[in-house]
Amino acid sequence: MCGIAGYVGPRNAVEVVYDQLKRLEYRGYDSAGIAFPKGDEIVVTKRAGKLSELAQALSDKWPEAPLAIAHSRWATHGAPTDVNAHPHFDQTEHVAIIHNGIIENYLDLRQELISRGHKFHSQTDTEVAAHVIGEEYEKGGPLEEAVRRAIARLRGAYALVVVSHLENDKIVCARNSSPLVLGLGKGENMLASDIPALLPYTREVIVMDDDTLAVLTTEGIRLMDANGRDLPVEPMHVDWDVAAAERGGYEHFMLKEIHEQPQVIRQVLAGRVDEKFKVRLEGIFGEHVWTEIDRVNIIACGTAYHAGLMGKHLFETLLRLPTDVYYSSEFRYGDPVLSPRSLAIFVSQSGETADTLAALKLCKQRRIRTLGIVNVIGSSIARECDRTIFTQAGPEISVASTKAYTAQVMVFALLALYIAQVQEMPGVRVGEWVEELMRMDSLAEDALKLEPEIIRMAEDMKNMPLCFFLGRGADAYVAVEAALKLKEVAYIPTQESPAGEMKHGPLALVQPGVAAMFGATDPHTRDKVVSNMKEVQARGGTVVAITTDDDTIMDQAADQVVRIPRAKFEFLSALLSIIPLQLFSYHVARLNGCEIDQPRNLAKSVTVE
Ligand code: F6R
Repeated sequence: MCGIAGYVGPRNAVEVVYDQLKRLEYRGYDSAGIAFPKGDEIVVTKRAGKLSELAQALSDKWPEAPLAIAHSRWATHGAPTDVNAHPHFDQTEHVAIIHNGIIENYLDLRQELISRGHKFHSQTDTEVAAHVIGEEYEKGGPLEEAVRRAIARLRGAYALVVVSHLENDKIVCARNSSPLVLGLGKGENMLASDIPALLPYTREVIVMDDDTLAVLTTEGIRLMDANGRDLPVEPMHVDWDVAAAERGGYEHFMLKEIHEQPQVIRQVLAGRVDEKFKVRLEGIFGEHVWTEIDRVNIIACGTAYHAGLMGKHLFETLLRLPTDVYYSSEFRYGDPVLSPRSLAIFVSQSGETADTLAALKLCKQRRIRTLGIVNVIGSSIARECDRTIFTQAGPEISVASTKAYTAQVMVFALLALYIAQVQEMPGVRVGEWVEELMRMDSLAEDALKLEPEIIRMAEDMKNMPLCFFLGRGADAYVAVEAALKLKEVAYIPTQESPAGEMKHGPLALVQPGVAAMFGATDPHTRDKVVSNMKEVQARGGTVVAITTDDDTIMDQAADQVVRIPRAKFEFLSALLSIIPLQLFSYHVARLNGCEIDQPRNLAKSVTVE
């Protein structure tokens, strides 16, 4: 999510790391900072806003240094302000660090450190990690040993980069689940969160493994495992062009973001589920509020609205909590009937969608409780809602939303389980659900392995004049999102509806050449879906079934069958089915030569009515 850069060598390190951050700009960021050791201190400059703000702060006297680290932040804990920007100091200011990822046990550690007299300036988990490292450093160096001891106390995902003015010739870094790459040069070495930042300086790179540390000096790079044992330094040669490298080697951001979904699922859950399979949602309403709520209204646009439909399905089937979903643009002018005990949930990736923001203001005027499910920290919707749960999906660059949808639905699942937990609902097996949520990342990875099969299907179907997206229950809600993806990026007309509605009208559109994608992940309704498939086939349509890997009937019913891994709960299998459907839209668009990341007529953040 964040950009990381570090350099030690004969060039001016401050200029190099700034240039490296600029090369990571495509990742999105809201603040940035630089640190370099000088004499008996570490000089830190950091600013909220664009990189140009940081450049302005430095440019009066663009400082010279042989070693520097830099960071561009995409906020996850605390608003995007100067204070929350990285680098962060430890208690003694002998150490400064930058970090990408989430330290899950930061609240416990923060309490523990405060009880020992530590003072914190920011709201970030990173500052807590800095203090833990500083505390270990006070017990004795070298710096890499202190970092090694400190990371044994941290839980979560991190790429950490550490400098100290007491050992001003080295950069120490450590990785667990957040990307970190090292670059080897001649008499100079460097690191970054992504390969493109290194390409102007070296093509010899090492992609760090989880649970490893590295020490960079002008002499070389030392790699270690978590026990401090040396590992072989074996760089690979990269000959990517810079533009492809920005997309991590993917042809488009949309494809990159589809492939990021397993990692996004891990990020959504980070710090929010514990080893006893309980849900922990910090900073939302107190427990008594959840027993008072008599109705939920979910308000959003586009893909976020479709995530809201999934939320409704779960709230009603799992919690028996009446839930309505509104398009923001209709809600705001629709004079909605709102119970004073209701909760209004606003779902938005950007947090800036004008209609959703206006609907939120209406609820606030009517004194209705408001909760945001938002990706961008510091955005208007996140700030205006009484409480906000962040999706922690990282910046989404492709106009067509993919990973944000999965993250939003995962948040709905967490929220539903949290409500069941605080209300001690006997019928909801919260522990089993949480355990299954924790498996969703690997199930998503398995779903992504279907890509070669999906490409073949896209090749066969790329000229279809019309594509139906159908299903029952949660599959019907996934169908509307899948249809939106195909029309957005491939410009192919779609018709989406619950499968049972077909014969009440839309069936008239079926003729040879028309395709129908049926979500059939729920075994309880599968035979009904088969009947609907037959109705399409009888009129010359081509039928594709997206079903689970334990299905035995679809081979006889559909023209093509895509099998996704089956999750323990049908709702989660339905959610996984969006992955092959996203891949399908992407590959149809690619094969038809469409401009995928910026489809015609569309914009990423719709800030007009
Ligand atoms: C579709 C898409 C849009 C957005 C919609 C809401 O792929 O991206 O439909 O979902 O404009 O945007 P946010 O979530 O930013 O409020």
